[in-house]
Parts: sequence; structure tokens; C-alpha cells
Amino acid sequence: RVKYSGKKGQLTAILRGMGALEPEARREVGELANAVRGELEAAIADKAATLKRAALEARLASEKLDVTLPGREKACGRLHPLHTVENRIREIFIGMGFTVVEGPEIESAYNNFDALNAPADHPSRDFQDTFYIDETTLLRTQTSPVQIRAMTGKTPPIRVISPGRVYRSDDVDATHSPMFHQVEGLVVDKGITMADLKGTLDLFARSLFGEETRPHHFPFTEPSAEVDVSCFVCGGKGCRLCKGEGWIEILGAGMVHPNVLASCGIDPEVYSGFAFGMGIERVAMRRYNINDMRLFFENDVRFLSQF
Ligand code: PHE
Repeated sequence: RVKYSGKKGQLTAILRGMGALEPEARREVGELANAVRGELEAAIADKAATLKRAALEARLASEKLDVTLPGREKACGRLHPLHTVENRIREIFIGMGFTVVEGPEIESAYNNFDALNAPADHPSRDFQDTFYIDETTLLRTQTSPVQIRAMTGKTPPIRVISPGRVYRSDDVDATHSPMFHQVEGLVVDKGITMADLKGTLDLFARSLFGEETRPHHFPFTEPSAEVDVSCFVCGGKGCRLCKGEGWIEILGAGMVHPNVLASCGIDPEVYSGFAFGMGIERVAMRRYNINDMRLFFENDVRFLSQF
């Protein structure tokens, strides 16, 4: 276009030079030049259209989108199975009229042991191998000190549960971890009996899975009970996980010892109560048929995403 019909183009030069021609020649050259210009313009328009089409096709090819391909999945997080089980336990007790309270993980030895009727020489201070921060402060070995916090300075009726982390210097194995979770329960009122404890735990166990109990002893409850479930690996025959017993403990319980009520300023002649504390990991193991507690803390997404 520039070479022939541009400002300095060859055809433009011919058209400009026509004024200098004889009239005869001017007509002849004019007709010819106009014909050439017509053909040139048509050829240029044609080529421009071809180039435009080619450019569009190249762009469409480079921006090709296969709308039939499956979409890219967004990885979505979910609750940890221990949280799911804790939430379920909360729901069951809230349904029975309990309130949820919290206590600190760094506790006084007094709340963790002394106020719970376990004096300095009590064996539970040994077998619950404790992480001490100093002589009077420790990482709580159980959620039971929340009982003391829930009772001291309060007037019954008291009906609370308290989920949280607890610490013991246990070696890691399939059913033990130095950090694990418990849910404490406490009910204090006039006329509370072992029958209330049994009814509450029975309803709880049946809501969650439906199992059996056998007796056990804790210093701060009298009488005491322990809720065991049949071993989730062997089903009761006895294996390495249950140490040949066929049972795994998931919960300790009992009637609050009069000494414990008195140490919190509640008159044991007027009030009575029951308490329980369960291990969330073991409840979750039973619920989901998991045979090793370590799986909860290894954070392998392939494991966690199954629940
Ligand atoms: N605190 C006890 C434990 O950790 C469980 C328990 C709680 C027992 C309440 C009786 C009453 O083993």
C-alpha cells in the first residue's frame, strides 16, 4: 500500500504528474491509473481481510479452553477426629443440662492433688508421673482440678463438664501419649446418688456406642467406678493393645468424696455429687476403630481426611 499508493508511492507519483501531460495522453494514463488503483485497493483489502482472519485464528488457538475438562478441586480442611468426638461428647452432656467450663493446663499441685484428697504421699502422685514446673505448680495430669474450681465459692446445684488437654510423663505407645485429652464431668446437688451417676453414664455410653462397666478406685471419689469398653482391636479376646485384658478403660468415675466437697466449702452433710473423667483419644479410637493413638498426632492428612 505504501509502495504504490502512499504519499511517495509510485502510483501517487503518476497521478500527480498527469497535469503535465497532453490532454490525449492524460485521458489514457488517467483511465489506466484508475483501473490500477481499483485493482490495488481490492487486492489490499483482500490481503488485510486474510491477515485479520489469520490473526483471529491464531488468537483463538492460543486461548483454547476445553470446557469439558473436570474442574480443579479445592482442598478443603475439616475437623480433627478428636475435635469431632469432643463436640459429640459436649452435645450429649449439653443435652442433659450440663454447662461447659474451662480450666488452665498449668495448675497448682493443690488443685491437681491435695484438694482432690490425694496427700503428698498418695501413690497417684507417682503413677500419674507428673510434669512439675516448680514444687507447687505442674502441668495438670487430669481435668479433675476443674472440679475444685467449679465448686470453690459456688453454691450447688452444679452441673458442668470440662474438656481439655492433660499431661503425664508416659512413654508413647498405642494407647499412651504424654499429652492427651479428657472431659471432666461434675454434678453436685441435694440428694445426688450413685444411681444418678450410673444413669448419666449409661445414657452417655448408649448415645455414643453402648458398652459395659466394671469397678475401680480413685482417691477423690467413694465409691468409684471405671467405664471400660471391649478392646477395639481384639473385641475382648485379649491382645497386645489391651495387654491381654480384653478391656480398655475410657472413663473413671465415682461419688465425690466428702473431704473434697468440704475442701471446696460445700457441706457434705447437705450436698452430694458425682464426677467422671474420660479420655477423648480412647473414645475416638473405639468410635472409629483406630488401633494406635499416635495416628492422631502424626498429622498425616491421608489418615485424618478419612474422618
Ligand atoms: N481424673 C481421673 C483420671 O484421670 C478420672 C476420674 C475423674 C475419676 C473423675 C473419677 C472421677 O484417671
